[in-house]
Amino acid sequence: MIKKQYLMIPGPTMVPERILRAMVREMINHRGPEFTKILTAVTEGVKKCFKTKNDLFIIPSSGTGGMEAAVVNILSEGDEVLVLNIGAFGSRWTKILKAYRANVDEIKFARGTAADVETVEKKLKSKKYSAVFFQQNETSTGVLNDVQSLAQVIKKYDTLIVVDAVSGLITADLRTDEWGLDVVVAASQKAFMLPPGLSFVSFSKKAWQYYEKSKMPRFYWDFKSMKDWADKGQNPFTPPVSLYYGLEESLKMIDEEGLENIFERHKKLRDITRDGLKKLNLKLLASDDVASCAVTAVFPPENINADDLRKKVKQNYSVVLAGGQEDLKGKIFRIGHLGYCLETDIMVSLDAISKCL
Ligand SMILES: Cc1ncc(COP(=O)(O)O)c(C=O)c1O
Repeated sequence: MIKKQYLMIPGPTMVPERILRAMVREMINHRGPEFTKILTAVTEGVKKCFKTKNDLFIIPSSGTGGMEAAVVNILSEGDEVLVLNIGAFGSRWTKILKAYRANVDEIKFARGTAADVETVEKKLKSKKYSAVFFQQNETSTGVLNDVQSLAQVIKKYDTLIVVDAVSGLITADLRTDEWGLDVVVAASQKAFMLPPGLSFVSFSKKAWQYYEKSKMPRFYWDFKSMKDWADKGQNPFTPPVSLYYGLEESLKMIDEEGLENIFERHKKLRDITRDGLKKLNLKLLASDDVASCAVTAVFPPENINADDLRKKVKQNYSVVLAGGQEDLKGKIFRIGHLGYCLETDIMVSLDAISKCL
């Protein structure tokens, strides 16, 4: 029996046929002029999505690789850093930073809430930090941080601002240069509508000053080496060429729809998802004022296990939902509504959930 799958998880997202087709092409020499042309064009295209003129590196890795690359290019062992932890991906910053022996302080906010600016300022007043790490969008809880307000406060303390925008970029506005974000990380498998495998990291002039002082070990992730090669129109190592073909097509699609229209589409998808779930009398983890445009986290009714419900929705209707992470494992389920997602996909998902309930 033919089954059409609705991949409603917050990444990897569904990939449009246009992009799939673009990727199925013969290989080219990654040190030749054809690849240089692609690399130059896609780098400029991704910069537009970041709203930046900073250097931008396209790295063959998932989002976590981009996060690790950000860390090793700005810090030294023992540096004092602060993580604003509003969910599992905040915890990921902490894990990476600890692995590289930075001295990490963490402010842990209640799950389902955003980082509170006043609390952050109090902490910044108490100690000098080299850098502050946080998420634009916390995928595990479906919360959108107020990046602009956080950046405004952090900047007063002469601290590097590092933002994981992996699941938030393109679903909601992020103005790297205007808001003064020094390092921003994104990844291909979210609103770029591509398969996993590429991460994107923007790097400001101030970040380069940190690079000069940084003593963390690095080889594959060395941004100076990436920049030297990028100036020659190449990557230091063999790039995943097919994903670059896909990225060219994805950027064309983003350009055709227009970034501002894409933000509006995601707001609408968020709102119809939340309205539909509320009509089913389900409790949402995040309140409306901090709700993510990329993913919604929901509690099942009290007598129903979240993972059992997800299983049933997948078995009966081929709608794939995501589970909870960390302390929320088994307690919530999540609906991704980012990237190649339309109102119809949400209608199908809500109906499938309703029928299974
Ligand atoms: C907010 C956020 N940060 C980082 C990541 C990176 O994870 P991965 O390495 O699986 O791409 C993800 C992936 O879901 C994410 O949602």
